[in-house]
Amino acid sequence: MKSSSLVPTRRLATGAEIPVIGLGTFGSDKYSPAQVAEAVVGAAEVGYRHFDCAAVYGNEREVGGALATILGNGVGREELWVTGKLWNNRHGDPEAACEESLRDLGLSYFDLYLIHWPFPNYHAPGVSVDSRDPHARPYIHDDYMATWRGLERLVWRGLVRHIGTSNMTVSKLKLLLRDAAVLPSANEMELHPHFQQPSLFEFVVGQGILPIGYSPLGSPSRPARDRTPSDTSDMDDPVILSIAEARGISPAAVCLKWAVGRGQVPIPFSVKRSQYEASLQAVCGEPLSSEEMAAISKIDRGCRLIKGQVFLWEGAPGWEALWD
Ligand SMILES: NC(=O)c1ccc[n+]([C@@H]2O[C@H](COP(=O)([O-])OP(=O)(O)OC[C@H]3O[C@@H](n4cnc5c(N)ncnc54)[C@H](OP(=O)(O)O)[C@@H]3O)[C@@H](O)[C@H]2O)c1
Repeated sequence: MKSSSLVPTRRLATGAEIPVIGLGTFGSDKYSPAQVAEAVVGAAEVGYRHFDCAAVYGNEREVGGALATILGNGVGREELWVTGKLWNNRHGDPEAACEESLRDLGLSYFDLYLIHWPFPNYHAPGVSVDSRDPHARPYIHDDYMATWRGLERLVWRGLVRHIGTSNMTVSKLKLLLRDAAVLPSANEMELHPHFQQPSLFEFVVGQGILPIGYSPLGSPSRPARDRTPSDTSDMDDPVILSIAEARGISPAAVCLKWAVGRGQVPIPFSVKRSQYEASLQAVCGEPLSSEEMAAISKIDRGCRLIKGQVFLWEGAPGWEALWD
């Protein structure tokens, strides 16, 4: 396997280094756990060292098999960055949930462990966006902090190197920063050219928290239930297309170069070697110019793709209520 030194890294507030790109592992309805596991091994062969995992992706055992293959091929555990996430139905026992994920992945620690969503609102996999969990309710900070205390204990126990948040807002993060004993190192958030979240992005960076950007290509393969008529397509944007054409690279490469140039860590998903290899090459190659970065900064459309409708409570006005 190739040396990890090929992949640039970004430094966290703790001094630890995270590869500037990771491979997403959410196969959604489209790709099986076996296909995702095969991609994890293939991605390591072309140079990836960062994998974005989660219990709810339903493939931790298979991904664990892939990680065992990678470690067996001479890559040291300390060269890998593995992120895990606490699913909504385990907010009450985060330590046991993390231990189960580590067991399934065959690891003794996570580099980063996130609370996947700031609500314990559960939904069965694949349910329609109109379904509502009768126990679902809005954000309750005391409950979130009780879960966060569990993550802090995981750090103190050596099972987790860094802890962080996902799908948060500025107001929720302010409460967490006020009350946390162990500060969040990273915030995973939806980030692509048509959804740049400038306020949250700047707040996170200003607090020394690393933004990790999910759906960095605009999630073109997301299931129909996660699509609405007003959604736009980043990779069809005229500005992205013109930069791609001028440089002779793909629109995906432009989106990823923009992400890394801006300072977020993109975690594109792919099971296709040609795609994940091209994505890695894009972020290792020549960066975009300041003019190209400035042009992309102007195409934000505020187009949130992962709206979270299934986490709404009975009587909630609409998905916007999840995002303050
Ligand atoms: N924290 C959270 O709540 C959260 C939420 C969503 C996602 N995530 C994480 O973020 C990861 C990525 O998100 P995502 O899958 O929604 O979106 P994405 O990475 O923007 O889109 C992935 C799709 O883009 C296409 N693609 C990948 N590489 C390409 C390339 N080099 N050129 C052209 N097309 C390419 C593939 O489509 P085809 O397969 O059709 O070829 C692939 O399935 C997930 O796997 C997961 O790890 C986290």
